[in-house]
Amino acid sequence: MTNMNPLVTTVALAAVLVSLPTPLTAQTPAEVRQAAKGALIEPLPAKMPGAEKDTPALVALGKKLFLDKRLSTNNSQSCNSCHNVEGKGGGVDNEATSPGAFGKRGGRNSPTVLNAGLQLAQFWDGRAADLVAQAKGPILNPGEMAMPSEVEVVKKLGAATDYPPLFDKAFSGAGAKISYENIAQAIAAFERTLITRDRFDDFLKGSDKALSALELKGANLFLTTGCTTCHTGPLIGGGMYMKVGLVNPYENTSDMGRFDVTKDNDDKFKFKVPTLRNIALTAPYFHDGKIATLPEAVKKMAWLQLGKELKDDEIKAIVAFLGSLSDKSRASAK
Ligand code: HEC
Ligand code: HEC
Repeated sequence: MTNMNPLVTTVALAAVLVSLPTPLTAQTPAEVRQAAKGALIEPLPAKMPGAEKDTPALVALGKKLFLDKRLSTNNSQSCNSCHNVEGKGGGVDNEATSPGAFGKRGGRNSPTVLNAGLQLAQFWDGRAADLVAQAKGPILNPGEMAMPSEVEVVKKLGAATDYPPLFDKAFSGAGAKISYENIAQAIAAFERTLITRDRFDDFLKGSDKALSALELKGANLFLTTGCTTCHTGPLIGGGMYMKVGLVNPYENTSDMGRFDVTKDNDDKFKFKVPTLRNIALTAPYFHDGKIATLPEAVKKMAWLQLGKELKDDEIKAIVAFLGSLSDKSRASAK
């Protein structure tokens, strides 16, 4: 190699150095934005698909239904009881598993309804295709609102003085005004308004100051550690099913997840990859609610899904970044 041009050698060496991972502190906002784009992470859209034809009357009716305990058999429980969307509410009940109308707990953690309509399907196992199909479930579920039948639900609302005029207004022209289908349609229309606005999207749209130095470091770690193999797209999740315990097994194997829907052996222990938007507001974590805190969830994820042991300061930075995904109005609510 005696004839090698020293300049070429230097350039080649420099290229090697550049391709090595750069220290985290050197990561600029522009580079983090580029990495986010590479992971298909972009700001949440202005409107949810399907919201184009939602009228204010339909949305208002849906909100009233969502908050109304009369939708449960003993008037004890509304959708909002398990998916609190008011004030600081992250669209969940912050319980490991939720007590139903008669106090008995189900087996799964209540996922957030915030941004839910942007996901590929509903429920941890994806068994409902969309918000309308989903809304028909809990009202009749004996472990949730426990109404005896669709007919009884329609009868109950029809006999109330407040609902008939509101259905007339929301469904002008529709044949059956108070019907189980229309109840679900109205609730879904309200849920389609639940898009959240956070500082990370401000950052993605160009505001460098929207994130603190620690949050920026965390964003970079999140984007370079492998988390975005699964937590991708505008929701930073919500777009695919993945096995929990992909690399190292998860200790709770009592819930087979998507397997119960498809009966396909490949789907054992697969769950919908949850959205990480508003994740700081929705403790406890995982489908079984067994993971109490966000640092624990991050540490566990790295180990279970990637076979990596994150250091404490890395976990701290990622958790800080995840905090920037909270809806601004909820994060600041009293
Ligand atoms: C008793 C508590 C409880 C009540 C009441 C309740 N839910 Fe849920 N909800 C849950 C739980 C638990 C899940 C997850 C169940 C599963 O995945 O198998 C869920 C799932 C959902 C999802 C899917 C979210 C996602 O990310 O997959 C939506 C949307 C939703 N509920 C909306 C509603 C609406 C609308 C109502 C009222 C008609 C309602 N819920 C009533 C507990 C409740
Ligand atoms: C191979 C796919 C995959 C990878 C990689 C992955 N996750 Fe997850 N993540 C999931 C799945 C699936 C769940 C749901 C687990 C469950 O409910 O049991 C989940 C759940 C979570 C939760 C809890 C969400 C909730 O609502 O309860 C957090 C937080 C999380 N992941 C963060 C991360 C972070 C941070 C990384 C990178 C260190 C990461 N994940 C890597 C698939 C993945």
